[in-house]
Amino acid sequence: GKLLRDAAAGHPPPCPCDGTELEDAAAKVLAPGPFGYVAGGAGSGDTLRANRAAFARYRLVPRMLRKTQPELRTSLLGKEMAAPVLLAPIGVQSIVHPEGELAVARAAAETGVTMIVASPASYSLEEVAAANGDGDRWYQLYQPDDPEVCLSILDRAKRAGFTALVVTVDTPRFGWRPSDLDQGFAPTLRGIGAATAFSDPVFRARLAQPPEQDLDAAVRLWQQMFTGTGRSWDELAFLRANWAGPLLVKGILHADDARAARDAGADGVVVSNHGGRQIDGALAALDALPAVAKAVGDELAVLLDSGVRTGSDVLKALALGADAVAVGRPYLYGLALNGQSGVGHVIRSVLADAEVTLGLLGAETVLDLGERHLHKIGG
Ligand code: FNR
Repeated sequence: GKLLRDAAAGHPPPCPCDGTELEDAAAKVLAPGPFGYVAGGAGSGDTLRANRAAFARYRLVPRMLRKTQPELRTSLLGKEMAAPVLLAPIGVQSIVHPEGELAVARAAAETGVTMIVASPASYSLEEVAAANGDGDRWYQLYQPDDPEVCLSILDRAKRAGFTALVVTVDTPRFGWRPSDLDQGFAPTLRGIGAATAFSDPVFRARLAQPPEQDLDAAVRLWQQMFTGTGRSWDELAFLRANWAGPLLVKGILHADDARAARDAGADGVVVSNHGGRQIDGALAALDALPAVAKAVGDELAVLLDSGVRTGSDVLKALALGADAVAVGRPYLYGLALNGQSGVGHVIRSVLADAEVTLGLLGAETVLDLGERHLHKIGG
C-alpha cells in the first residue's frame, strides 16, 4: 500500500526502519546524559524490560486466503484518525535535538498522526502548536496545584487548538532513576521544559522576579507547582469542569482506577507505566490492559503506551482491547538521529509495518482484531 511505499521512499533511510534498532543507533549520536535520560528506566530497569517481554509473550495467529485490503483508518473519541497510533507526550525534547518538539510537531502534521504535547516541553505550547499547523494535537497536563495557573494554561491550550486534554497521574514525583543520578543529568533543574510555565502571565505574577532574573527561584516554584504530591481524584473534577473537550487520564494500571477515572467524568484512559520510568517492578502496561479494557472499554476510549516498538506490537495491543496506542522513545530516537525527517521516518515505518502485518493476519480493519488473533505463550 501507500504507507509501505512512503516508508520505503528515499534511500538511504534517515534512521533504522526497525523500531528495536533505533536505541542502539541513538546511543551512538547522543551524549551519555541525554541518552540515559531518554532510554533509562526506574531502578534496575525491571519494568522497562517487562514492557517488552509482555509483547513477546503474545504471538499473532494469522488466517489465510481472505483477500484483504488492510486499512488502519479508525475513529477515536468521535473523530476520524488515519491510524490508531499517536505520539506519546515526552518532555524536554531539546536535550536530544535543538528543534525538539517543533521538529516532532512538523513530522506529526506531515504524517497525519496526533501528537500529544508534554507539559514540560522545551518550547511553549503556542510555539509547538504553530509548528503543528493544522495537525491534530492533544495537550498533556501535569496539573498545577495553583488553580489560577491551571486555568490560564487550559485556556492557552484551547486557544492554541489542542483538541483533547491528557492528565498524567503517575508522576506525583519523579521515579528513582539511577542513570540520571549517576550522570548528574537533570535538565528540568536548569529550567529546560519550563517554557510554557515561564511564558504564563499568571505564573509569572507569582514570582518575586522574572525567570530571566532569578532562574533558580522560578525553577523551584515551577517544580513545586507542577509536580506536587498532593493530587487526588477530587482535583480531576476541577479539570472536568474547566475543559470542554475530551479528557483522558494517563498512567492507569488497575481496573478500579479506570473506573474512578470514568466516575470523575473522563472520556478515556491511557494504560501506561510511563515507559518503565516510575516504579521499578510495576507490571507491564500490556499485562494491565485486558482488565482495564474489560472494566471500561465499552464506555471509555482505552489507549496503551509503554513498550510499543513495531507494527505487530500495535496490533497485539488492539487485539487485547486498546482503541489506540502511543509510541514514546522510538520517535525521540528518530529526532536525535535526524530531526524532523528522522521522526517522520519512524512514524511512517510503524504505520507501514502495522498495515502490512494487518493484511498478513487476514484482517480487514483494526476493528476486526480480537483475542482470536493472539496465542499467549505459557497461558
Ligand atoms: C516521558 N513520558 C512522559 N509522559 C508524560 O505524561 N509527560 C512527560 O512529560 C513525559 N516525559 C517523558 C520523557 C521521556 C524522555 C520519556 C522516555 C518518556 C512518558 C511517555 O509519555 C510514555 O508513557 C512512554 O514513553 C511510553 O513508553 P515507550 O514507548 O517509551 O516505551
